[in-house]
Amino acid sequence: MRIRPATTADIPAMLELEQKCPTAAHWTPRLYQVALRTEESGDSKRWVLVVEQKVEVGTASEGRETPELLAFLVAHDLGPEWELENIVVAPSARRKGLGARLVGELLSHAREAGNEHVFLEVRESNQAARILYEKSGFEETGRRSGYYLNPPEDAILYHRRLR
Ligand SMILES: CC(C)(COP(=O)(O)OP(=O)(O)OC[C@H]1O[C@@H](n2cnc3c(N)ncnc32)[C@H](O)[C@@H]1OP(=O)(O)O)[C@@H](O)C(=O)NCCC(=O)NCCS
Repeated sequence: MRIRPATTADIPAMLELEQKCPTAAHWTPRLYQVALRTEESGDSKRWVLVVEQKVEVGTASEGRETPELLAFLVAHDLGPEWELENIVVAPSARRKGLGARLVGELLSHAREAGNEHVFLEVRESNQAARILYEKSGFEETGRRSGYYLNPPEDAILYHRRLR
């Protein structure tokens, strides 16, 4: 298993994973393309990480392997602060620490870049994500009524100070 920066080649697998997870943020293919193209050219304000593992395909004697996407994280560099925009772990890979590891990578990256704050919002009912964020040191700071659609729900706002 390894964590690496995403490339545009990861977009189909990211979309497939995101679509399996109703509570994830849902982006169009174009939004991912714009985020990752600018990242590849070194001009990005986005930071996108994927977690992949190699899985065997064919018979064991063939020894062929293909990468499988297990998780990803998308964050936005907004100058003095960052926004965690999305984090998704495949249902089969949950509760193994991948989500916490990705959040930890973002916090280290933002701290090393000299930033002071990370913000995010999450559906009120998304207990898995809220517990993950709280365990990662985020504090609840507010609420946006009716922020989400399909289904309608309030957003809970979180903040993590880095220094
Ligand atoms: C939220 C999500 C990213 C968590 O990923 P994960 O890899 O399972 O999280 P971790 O294994 O790192 O969990 C870290 C801690 O968070 C808490 N946690 C995670 N999932 C939980 C759940 N379903 N119920 C209760 N607590 C949970 C636990 O305290 C866990 O520690 P523990 O396993 O030692 O008890 C994952 O559930 C997911 O992809 N959900 C769908 C997409 C989504 O809603 N993303 C958030 C958008 S804002």
